[in-house]
Amino acid sequence: DDGLNTRAIAAGKQYFGSATDNGELSDVTYKAILDNTAEFGQITPGNSMKWDTIEPSQNSFSFTKGDVIADLAATNGQKLRCHTLVWYSQLPNWVKTGGFNNETLISVMKNHITQTVTHYKGKCLHWDVVNEALNEDGTYRSNVFYDTIGEAYIPIAFATAAAADPSAKLYYNDYNIETAGSKSTGAQRIIKLVQQYGTKIDGIGMQAHLIVGSSPSTSSWTTNMNAFSALNVDIAITELDIRTTTPATAAAVTQQSKDYANAVAGCKAVTKCVGVTIWDFTDKYSWIPSVFSGQGAALPWDEDLVKKDEVYNAILNAW
Ligand code: XIL
Repeated sequence: DDGLNTRAIAAGKQYFGSATDNGELSDVTYKAILDNTAEFGQITPGNSMKWDTIEPSQNSFSFTKGDVIADLAATNGQKLRCHTLVWYSQLPNWVKTGGFNNETLISVMKNHITQTVTHYKGKCLHWDVVNEALNEDGTYRSNVFYDTIGEAYIPIAFATAAAADPSAKLYYNDYNIETAGSKSTGAQRIIKLVQQYGTKIDGIGMQAHLIVGSSPSTSSWTTNMNAFSALNVDIAITELDIRTTTPATAAAVTQQSKDYANAVAGCKAVTKCVGVTIWDFTDKYSWIPSVFSGQGAALPWDEDLVKKDEVYNAILNAW
């Protein structure tokens, strides 16, 4: 059957996918769309593999919710992007305020990574090992890991994940790195840092939480992706959504369709870009309105789970 994933595969990519979340899976109409591998050949748990879900208190691990998503991927024959191991957000207070020093925080971080990656060993096509480690100017973001361990927390995290599941592709994931600039250069510095440490990094995840009308052109996408290709890493667009002021005007939807097509065309044109994931497929479950007040309508299916033909067809035909 024709669909977004079918087209991505035909273009030589590994998948077109969507984020999902545990609570949504009881929505029968939603789930029927998600389960259709012509549309989605890959899923990412929106929240259920984050630190606060998996290790809410020290050394007490809870994989139940993440397992639901991993099992769904296996049942459907969809690839799984596992998200995320080391991030300053959705991080329990016990990590942030536990008074750990360099040595003890490294041990806490390694334990979290080893337990989690081992639990999902063989199931994750990708792991987002470190998420959002950069400020907008490309310097390191202050967080408990950087402030306590220094930049070495990043290569240590990658080495620990690689040891626990040698076959998972290991990614650094961030936003506002979709075009050339200070933050993209910072992400390239992280890749070189991990490589110089002597451990592997397989890919760069470009989140791509974009805004209608100020999204990258196709050539802007490809120029930036090529800079990562030159470092010998794969590229994935990992959390694509393109928000606008709600209610969306017809003109905004037309522009949004072009913005989506540019992202897909960029990935299509760059050999090392392996696939595109949208950050859920429907406005019904998008994170945007809760975080960006007055914004939304960011996805190709509307709040009633009806496909937006203009946006959907732009994505489909860009492959
Ligand atoms: C978001 C989820 O979609 C929301 O449900 C949650 O409340 C906050 O996190 N960058 C990331 C994702 O890497 O994990 C975030 O997901 C969106 C921004």
